[in-house]
Amino acid sequence: MHSLYDWWKRTSRRSMVKPDCTTDENPRILEGNDLKALAKYMKSDSCRNVFIMLGAGVSTSAGIPDFRSPGTGLYANLARLNLPFPEAVFEIGFFKRNPIPFYTLAKELYPGHFRPTPTHSFIKLLHSHSMLHTCFTQNIDTLERRAGVPANKIIEAHGSFATQRCIECRTPFDAEKIKKAVLSEKLEVPRCERKQCGGLVKPDIVFFGEALPAQFHASIPHLRDADLLIVMGTSLTVHPFASLVDFVPEDCPRVLINLDSVGHFNRKHDVVILRKCDEVVRELCTKLGWEEELDAAWEETKDSLEVGEQEPEETAEDEVDKIAKDLKQTLNVSEKGDEEASDKDKAGDSAEPR
Ligand code: OAD
Repeated sequence: MHSLYDWWKRTSRRSMVKPDCTTDENPRILEGNDLKALAKYMKSDSCRNVFIMLGAGVSTSAGIPDFRSPGTGLYANLARLNLPFPEAVFEIGFFKRNPIPFYTLAKELYPGHFRPTPTHSFIKLLHSHSMLHTCFTQNIDTLERRAGVPANKIIEAHGSFATQRCIECRTPFDAEKIKKAVLSEKLEVPRCERKQCGGLVKPDIVFFGEALPAQFHASIPHLRDADLLIVMGTSLTVHPFASLVDFVPEDCPRVLINLDSVGHFNRKHDVVILRKCDEVVRELCTKLGWEEELDAAWEETKDSLEVGEQEPEETAEDEVDKIAKDLKQTLNVSEKGDEEASDKDKAGDSAEPR
């Protein structure tokens, strides 16, 4: 059986010669591996189809922890949930046996508490400038939508809190009812209301052991048309999402904006900037002449906080160091497993995030 990756290699436009319209103002490729060269390329006619890949790091400044940052990441702070291992909170098998840890966490992560970040507003600007083709996100916080990125440009690869259903009969469940259950003082695990079902209800978040949305797979071929790929705030450890970086043409500039070095960004036109994404995005917007637009777009996101919600304060990092140490060994085991499996998955169609 041929894999998706094999198919892409056979049909990729990488072998096609693009029309040469190179001029000083219209560079076909990046003239350097920095923000200045990136901004010049983005202002040129060559850069029309921009693809974005997002991970939890783009939402940390909104007050939502990422998963794997030592100390502050979600997986280092779940001791209170008494899990056999941190990822169990998002495992479908574990959820069926014990949904309480997930619902405890869901209360803390529930959308509405958080305001989009300047990075989310930058993606909206790409859309306003008719450059955004698709924003692939692993995040379930819906902050892209709240920032004003149109839904048809977003692929929520790991699902979201936006809809929910019974895990047994798949019957959709009422949004207001689940919200009430999740946010109630006393934890209530919502159950299917269909007669003789009573199955557990779960938001349509992709758990480990579940398939990714069909829309994710259907969107992969479009990456052949990418003129630019910007990857932000992800450890690129979960597949198949992480493999998307390999699906853009060889001559398509790829930009990694992340706190630490991840993945394999060693192509000629790759740019790697290891800093906070909000800072980098602002600098890029200044070079593009979009700084005021960025401020205005971000200002608008103030309204996206639900009534009664406050902007989050800075998260405390000190207390969690001890817990992080305790769980370090467990995390090492699961991350090693990720690495071993990732090469296998790159050549396969597996829709199993790990
Ligand atoms: P991770 O926590 O694995 O990675 C977040 C990355 O963002 C790390 O490399 C951080 O260094 C970086 N980072 C943190 N803050 C940043 C900032 N302000 N600016 C730039 N970079 C920053 O999160 P993901 O890669 O999103 O899946 O995790 C992928 C998947 O693993 C999640 O979707 C989730 C999880 O298990 C499921 O639940 C199915």
